[in-house]
Amino acid sequence: MIRDYLNAAVEIAREAGELQLDGLNKAKKIEYKGNRFNIVTQVDKACEKLIVNFLKDKFPSHDILAEEGTDIKKDSEWLWIVDPLDGTVNYAHGYPLFSVSIGLLHKSKPVVGVVYEPNRNEMFVAEHGGGAMLNDKPIRVTQNKTIEGSMISTGFAYNVNETRLNNINHFNDFIKKCHAIRRDGVASVDMCYIACGRYDGFWELFLKPWDIAAGAVIIKEAGGQLSLFDGKPLDIFGDEIVASNGLIHEEMLEILGCHHEK
Ligand code: IPD
Ligand code: CA
Ligand code: CA
Repeated sequence: MIRDYLNAAVEIAREAGELQLDGLNKAKKIEYKGNRFNIVTQVDKACEKLIVNFLKDKFPSHDILAEEGTDIKKDSEWLWIVDPLDGTVNYAHGYPLFSVSIGLLHKSKPVVGVVYEPNRNEMFVAEHGGGAMLNDKPIRVTQNKTIEGSMISTGFAYNVNETRLNNINHFNDFIKKCHAIRRDGVASVDMCYIACGRYDGFWELFLKPWDIAAGAVIIKEAGGQLSLFDGKPLDIFGDEIVASNGLIHEEMLEILGCHHEK
């Protein structure tokens, strides 16, 4: 059954990815959601409509939560969590890295993850207990044991001007200790890049469940580790995430602990 859910998510993620590619070099209609950093385009909305209609049709008894306003509650054990276009700021600027991210929770536990990055035609998938794959080939996290030798990534939330917890202090700490930091602007892809061994770690504040639900399953199934900044188990509805290959996790927590102002 879970495999059917995974296949359905793959099918519709690919379709939404095509929609994204179609719209990439066309004029974007930009609207603001709260502040000048937080934007949405007509393509985010079109992708959400496409994915939600598909899921509603196929799984009418399931709950669905998606970034651009969908919140269908049927009291189901199954909850789809959808980011119809992760990396909207990249997309709006024509920067070719963005994704479709579809996660499925069963009784609150993430069990299916699908992240499709259409520019490189990369489909990352995982189901609980079944391993993680990139374009049908199994993937694993790196064996890197030190921060010193690690390439890690992070991002900055849209409330960067509104809180002291703006992640700049952590960025400052990490950049002096690791091999390299990247800031790609697509949390779901950051997470998949840990799963397939391109990054060793990732942390961020104030992500939303649709940014991380799919990636969490994919990292776990690829042998990685996920937690809050204090090492407690990841809460995909929570305010912080640390993800890694497992081997550098403690070192990342120590660095994040230097500025834990909560
Ligand atoms: C954003 C991206 C970005 C992260 C932001 C997210 P969106 O999602 O994942 O990498 O730094 O915090 O909000 O708005 O492009 O779907
Ligand atoms: Ca997102
Ligand atoms: Ca989004």
